[in-house]
Amino acid sequence: TKALILVGGFGTRLRPLTLSKPKPLVEFCNKAQLLHQLEALAAAGVREVILAISYSPAVMEEFLLKAQHDLGIKVVCSHEQEPLGTAGPIAYARDFLNTKEDFFVVNSDITCAFPFAELLAFHKAHGREGTVLVTKVEEPSRYGVVQHDASGKVLRFVNKPKQFSGNLVNAGVAAFSPSVLARLQPKPASMEKEILPVMAQEEQLYCMPLRGYWLDIGSPKHHLLGAQLRLAHHRATEPAILSVHPAVVGDVLISPSATIGKGCLIGPAVVIGPNVVVHDGVHIERSTLLEGCVVGKHSYIVDSIIGWKSVIGQWVRVEGNTVLGESVTLSDEIYLNGGLVLPHKNVKESIAEPKIIM
Ligand code: GDD
Ligand code: MG
Repeated sequence: TKALILVGGFGTRLRPLTLSKPKPLVEFCNKAQLLHQLEALAAAGVREVILAISYSPAVMEEFLLKAQHDLGIKVVCSHEQEPLGTAGPIAYARDFLNTKEDFFVVNSDITCAFPFAELLAFHKAHGREGTVLVTKVEEPSRYGVVQHDASGKVLRFVNKPKQFSGNLVNAGVAAFSPSVLARLQPKPASMEKEILPVMAQEEQLYCMPLRGYWLDIGSPKHHLLGAQLRLAHHRATEPAILSVHPAVVGDVLISPSATIGKGCLIGPAVVIGPNVVVHDGVHIERSTLLEGCVVGKHSYIVDSIIGWKSVIGQWVRVEGNTVLGESVTLSDEIYLNGGLVLPHKNVKESIAEPKIIM
């Protein structure tokens, strides 16, 4: 079995982080987002992965060489000349896909426990052309809504419906039989708008409920929320990977190479990356600190992402979905609420309202 990951665009919604790294390489819970998916695919026996991508900087090539080596899988990039949406890339990569075998298609911007083996078993058991994983959400209007019968056969698939028709949605992970390729052409098209609704009408689409957490983590706010869900998942399934430390409250992941000062309060829902230095008396809640950043004494960070190698002064307060890009510095005693700070900026004054600091 092979898999195609829809990597797509430039990750504008994750700026300023994506100004320094391609979105799939931005760390989520201390691991490149793409690596979560590659690891789950490798664990399910997938040996070949196709990245449907429109660009491929050198850092991506380096990352892929290492991932291939570590996981014992082959990863090829299928470069599109123009964005082909979510359906076009599958047809465009048909020479890479084995046309005799079922294959997975995965959206690169979602997090869940990725039950690929179960998905494939269910897909083979019903024998139709496609199976999508589905999950319940509060706000179904942003997703592909699915209605199904007791056997899991999809009766209706409506992408981003204006009218409420249930809160079960396409999770962005699917298995397809090779015959689905006959429906697709290598030109811009949307799987969820043009293909899946027709497959449902023709009784060729099934759905399988996803157990556990799920989130589309395409924006900073959802990145943080996703981390909170994933840490809670670790608590329930493999608590040993969460940190045990006198400063820690709730579910927290701290890289072994990070250092935490005296009298700190870390958690809940905090991720601290490699080589991060947290000085004494710091308080951090529901936030992610990326590799190599430094937090000065008595600073307070809540609901925020701190970019690689950023340096935060003393008695600083950062909150409200603030995102600091790479190598930002914040002067002592300032306050940031919801700022998006571009890489390498030195911020010397408080920012009380959400805005972009160029
Ligand atoms: N290669 C390539 N080319 N990939 C693309 C392109 C493109 O032109 N456009 C989007 N993608 C990738 C995105 O990077 C993402 O990983 C995936 O395809 C889905 O695109 P989104 O733009 O994130 O779609 P969405 O989130 O609005 O909706 C999709 O995901 C929902 C779940 O998060 C749909 O599949 C919905 O039905 C689904 O509910
Ligand atoms: Mg998305």
